[in-house]
Amino acid sequence: MFTLAHLSDPHLGPLPRVRFRELFSKRIMGYANWHVRRRGRHDMASLADLTRDMLNQHPDHVACTGDLAVIGLDAEFTPARAFLETLGSPDYVSLVPGNHDTYVRGTAEHPQLHWSEYMTGDGKRVEGDPPFPYVRRRGNIGIVGISTAVPTGFHSAQGRIGKEQARAVADALKLLGDEGLFRVVLIHHPPGGTEDFFRRLTDARRIKRALLKSGAELILHGHNHTSDHSTLMGLGGHVQVVGVPSASAASDDNKEPGAYNLYRIEGEAGRWSCEMVTRGYKRGVRGIVERKRQMLIEPEPHRLVAAPGLTVRDAR
Ligand SMILES: [Fe+2]
Ligand SMILES: [Fe+2]
Repeated sequence: MFTLAHLSDPHLGPLPRVRFRELFSKRIMGYANWHVRRRGRHDMASLADLTRDMLNQHPDHVACTGDLAVIGLDAEFTPARAFLETLGSPDYVSLVPGNHDTYVRGTAEHPQLHWSEYMTGDGKRVEGDPPFPYVRRRGNIGIVGISTAVPTGFHSAQGRIGKEQARAVADALKLLGDEGLFRVVLIHHPPGGTEDFFRRLTDARRIKRALLKSGAELILHGHNHTSDHSTLMGLGGHVQVVGVPSASAASDDNKEPGAYNLYRIEGEAGRWSCEMVTRGYKRGVRGIVERKRQMLIEPEPHRLVAAPGLTVRDAR
């Protein structure tokens, strides 16, 4: 059995000191928003307890689907790197960036500059190759990390995959499927593309096409700061699509308190089972508790094989 943990959207605080000139951009809106609405909702002590609880479950691997930053200040990226190190080594943690990590054009390359080891595939990257998607193999799991993080204008939290990346995702999923691996896609924006106009993945059709062409077993996303579960059609059947709340959401958050998911994956190609366990805060309850347990992919019913000389009916 392989256990994969997933958390997202820690939006690490407190915000470092902001220089006046750094606010001459979209950041002015995010800065005001953080101080008026969001600062009290992202609680770093709750986040520390949540990540400790997650690591105490001894997952085989950790996935984080972005939005470590708040408004993409220069000084946000080093503390975010320190946060990643509390989760584990780059080998143990797979990261994809979110829209807050590429908040403005001026620091849009900072996720690569500061966190690239957490977003690198197995083996050596060929100079000049695009960094995404990256592919990692861990046990019987194949991980495909996608970036949808692009700098956007005022009021926009949109994401984009792009044609080249989508093509490479389809190829990677096909390859991992042929190898008989359980394919997990990491993406910040929900791939259904059904969020409101200013928050959606603008070219969600591209990921849907890649799934129809090559298939996948599980897609993990963040961005909405809520527990979400849906499916998309993929080659070979439904693909499970699951989002988690913000890992730093306070225990009394009125949208959804912080949580993470554990996926327990067993089986082999065509006969996978996957159980999801949600652990986190619950309104009115002290500490971190198991909030939900659900089979996402049911194990195939045991196949009866008749002994020589017997029919299956006899064997029953
Ligand atoms: Fe977020
Ligand atoms: Fe986001």
